[in-house]
Amino acid sequence: MRQRFQYFLKLTAALKACRKSPLFVELSLSKDIKLVSANLAAARPHFLFRCRQLTTGKEVIVKIILDKSDQSLAKEHEAYQILSRENPIQAGFRYPEVLGFDPDVPCIFMTRVKGNDLRKNLRQNAQLSRPEFNEAIFNWVKTLHHTKGPKQQFWAATQILHEQDFEEKIAALTSARAKETLLDCFEQLSQMAATMPEAHLDMVFCHGDLHDANILFEQGEMYCIDFSEWRYDIPEFDLAKMALASCYSASAPLRPKLAEYAHHYAGVDIDRLCFITRLVGLRYARNQIDFYETKKSKPEKSETVLNRLTSLFQD
Ligand SMILES: Nc1ncnc2c1ncn2[C@@H]1O[C@H](COP(=O)(O)OP(=O)(O)O)[C@@H](O)[C@H]1O
Ligand SMILES: [Mg+2]
Repeated sequence: MRQRFQYFLKLTAALKACRKSPLFVELSLSKDIKLVSANLAAARPHFLFRCRQLTTGKEVIVKIILDKSDQSLAKEHEAYQILSRENPIQAGFRYPEVLGFDPDVPCIFMTRVKGNDLRKNLRQNAQLSRPEFNEAIFNWVKTLHHTKGPKQQFWAATQILHEQDFEEKIAALTSARAKETLLDCFEQLSQMAATMPEAHLDMVFCHGDLHDANILFEQGEMYCIDFSEWRYDIPEFDLAKMALASCYSASAPLRPKLAEYAHHYAGVDIDRLCFITRLVGLRYARNQIDFYETKKSKPEKSETVLNRLTSLFQD
């Protein structure tokens, strides 16, 4: 109850801050602000609102964060700036248009995509299957990757293993089983890393968080949203994120599934893809388990994460 009240207070404060932004007036936004969803901020520092632009009748999404030191919205805005300069919207490659960014709040205003995300599409229509969307998704990702970054040494770009506190954070988990499993996976990855050939690889603009709730469809056109985790990296990084979101389960060995991705995306190295998928999967599992341990509320969820991680490391 208390948590709900605090959430409500934060929400009201976010709304107020958003209305105070000069951009709000500039864009002639009406007063009837509707929330996209009431539980969006459950584990997030930001809020999302849906507004109507009276002048054009356009629907607008406002993403707002109350912590000024949080750089994620500025980072997301930077992504949209780079894209609009170097990789403009075109058929088969769409993303929301940014209408304004206010670094003082901070908040970002963008056009609303009026359609379901991939997750809902698949849930609501049992006849649909993931491969039906694959072509659109892979074409979108390939176009995104036309934007090049600096050339870098592979291991310099995928620093996750060398993040200062990666191992320490695993060691700090309370569940002995979780700790042991994760450290074992970490060890396996360190050994794999040592056998990978050194290479200078092209870095490309990676979305960084390509999962099925960040892929929207409006009248058959695909849009990607949520660029807050973008970075220059090798293409396999985005593919690994997609694979983790949709294509592995306890009953499906990883490598054959990844081979499907490699088939859709020429030039992908299957060993690298496998490595990065596990690496990203390990980091995700660590963060999830840490979250469930801190909240101490849903130990069974932590168990599910652990099982998925173990299946990711089998084959
Ligand atoms: N431009 C947009 N058009 C339509 N829906 C959006 C838009 N931006 C965000 N949303 C909705 O809000 C949800 C959360 O926004 P997102 O930017 O992905 O933030 P988060 O970091 O919380 O995932 C999305 O999954 C989507 O349903
Ligand atoms: Mg998202």
